[in-house]
Amino acid sequence: MSNIKPRVYKNISSSEAMELENKYGAHNYHPLPAVLAKGEGVYLWSPEGKKYYDFLSAYSAVNQGHCHPRLVKIIKEQAGTLTLTSRAFYNNWLGPYEEKMTRLFGYDKLLPMNSGAEAVETALKLARRWGYEVKGVSPDQAKIIVCENNFHGRTITMVSLSTDPESCGFFGPFTPGFVKIPFDNPDALKSVIDENTVAFLAEPIQGEAGVYVPEEGYLKACREICTKAGILLMADEIQTGLCRTGRMLCCEYEAVRPDVLILGKALSGGFMPVSAVLSDDEIMLIIKPGQHGSTFGGNPLACRLAMEAIDILVEENLANNAYNMGRIFRDGLVKINSPLIKKVRGKGLLNAMVIEPITIKGETKTAWDVCLKLAENGLLAKPTHNDIIRFAPPLVITETQIYECLDIIKSSLQQFLK
Ligand SMILES: Cc1ncc(COP(=O)(O)O)c(C=O)c1O
Repeated sequence: MSNIKPRVYKNISSSEAMELENKYGAHNYHPLPAVLAKGEGVYLWSPEGKKYYDFLSAYSAVNQGHCHPRLVKIIKEQAGTLTLTSRAFYNNWLGPYEEKMTRLFGYDKLLPMNSGAEAVETALKLARRWGYEVKGVSPDQAKIIVCENNFHGRTITMVSLSTDPESCGFFGPFTPGFVKIPFDNPDALKSVIDENTVAFLAEPIQGEAGVYVPEEGYLKACREICTKAGILLMADEIQTGLCRTGRMLCCEYEAVRPDVLILGKALSGGFMPVSAVLSDDEIMLIIKPGQHGSTFGGNPLACRLAMEAIDILVEENLANNAYNMGRIFRDGLVKINSPLIKKVRGKGLLNAMVIEPITIKGETKTAWDVCLKLAENGLLAKPTHNDIIRFAPPLVITETQIYECLDIIKSSLQQFLK
């Protein structure tokens, strides 16, 4: 520790904020050059007061809109009462939260965690243990099937599931026991199941990969295959769940009930990392005291926030709004009819626009360039890969705002072609 007098940080400007992050922070992200200092609903503001529409929603963690007043009230109230007890004791909000969630989603039990990656890790541990204790798989032989181009997080095990060289390159040796098959291919699933297979893990829509929506009937077919083979279907609804795609869960579109449901992100409305795994007794009670846990998982602050965040989704009818606004938005994007738009896809308010790289004045414009232009014009979206832009605003967005955003996108694309 040096003896340098601590600096007082007051009114940090955008350029100072970027400079500090670049100089003192690890370079594990490549952010757009937009600094944010305030948020409300669908809007964000820079320290200098530039106003943006948020079309990322912190990767779908802010479905309820920034700083939802009901969540602000709850966090203030609970922060002054009790925040963390650890699971060494009971707390007065974990039980009510678990009852609420299990009733709403129709499972016997919930296991609380924090980040999404931890919740997926929990599901994998549950599946292996279930495989050994219920299915009778020989020790250390359990196999879990995952999909190519998945995204389940960044820990060593999560990147062991990955096929993205950016995510997993040079982070080996990897966790064994996973079989990778193409997404949206029920035949591939059927063909790799053997006596050691315990589960199939998938995202109902591959979000990070670029919002890949599978063929209608895919999840249903997977459900049938898993049931017939006696393996668990585990749905990672961390990004697609909690109203994002126009239903409380994306699996509802095909009336599919996964054996293990994984939630995160918007479970706290963007206030803190809160994730959960839901399942029935036959699976969940296999985990005994001391076999899994987390210091912060199930803390009373998280539980109260999550209960309120869920109530907001239901009471503000955000699934319906996501469904309706999503349709208007996708139709609007198609109608822009720009040579830069190669494809529009998505469900509810989880959408993507695939950019046709165009060379203008000797320069090839990529999704990154389009996002810079959108930001300049007051709309924040993030490219995924070189040619895809994800559009995922908070679900509280109104029709008027959607049309205003379509105008911003249209004029931004036109500015390139001038
Ligand atoms: C489908 C899915 N699973 C898991 C994760 C990981 O969540 P976290 O970043 O909270 O660990 C993400 C994050 O984007 C995700 O989209």
